[in-house]
Amino acid sequence: MDKPKAERTLVLLKPDAVQRGLMGEIITRFEKAGMKIVGMKLRWVDSERAGRHYGEDIIKRRGEKVRELLIKFITSGPVLAIVVEGVDAIENVRMMCGTTEPKSAPPGTIRGDYSHISYRYADLAGKAVENIIHASSSPEDAEKEIYLWFNEDEIFDYHTVYEIHTF
Ligand code: CDP
Ligand code: MG
Repeated sequence: MDKPKAERTLVLLKPDAVQRGLMGEIITRFEKAGMKIVGMKLRWVDSERAGRHYGEDIIKRRGEKVRELLIKFITSGPVLAIVVEGVDAIENVRMMCGTTEPKSAPPGTIRGDYSHISYRYADLAGKAVENIIHASSSPEDAEKEIYLWFNEDEIFDYHTVYEIHTF
């Protein structure tokens, strides 16, 4: 039988989360869920790097205009990049984020608890949907995105106290 293996995912706390002072609260949610932070850095990226994160896939799914607004948003201030590790971390973290549109994201999710804006509002305002957080959506994306934001030596293998102590 296969042995259980931790999975890693990339989380970005977008400029709205950083500017609103929500970093600590959101990190706490992952820690409380028992997941492990194995990499973390605050970065203010330019549109070239932002465009590598939101590339062809976003054009195909959401269109060129959304990509343009999204790049403008994600480069408008610092972003906190986090590598989160845990059991089925990709799926678990996505679930904790809630749906893309904060208005439809259920209470209890990060987008549902910390935002409430709608697609309609964003359209009328001529802005991207400012929804606090990005999380990788598949193992392929996670692998690609983690190494877009982190070097190998910026991601750490360590044991939590629960892993170290056997009482
Ligand atoms: O982030 P998520 O995976 O939930 O959604 P996505 O389809 O990968 O879109 C990436 C990001 O684009 C979203 O998180 C929104 O910030 C933004 N977006 C937008 O501004 N307008 C849309 N109509 C759709 C997405
Ligand atoms: Mg996505």
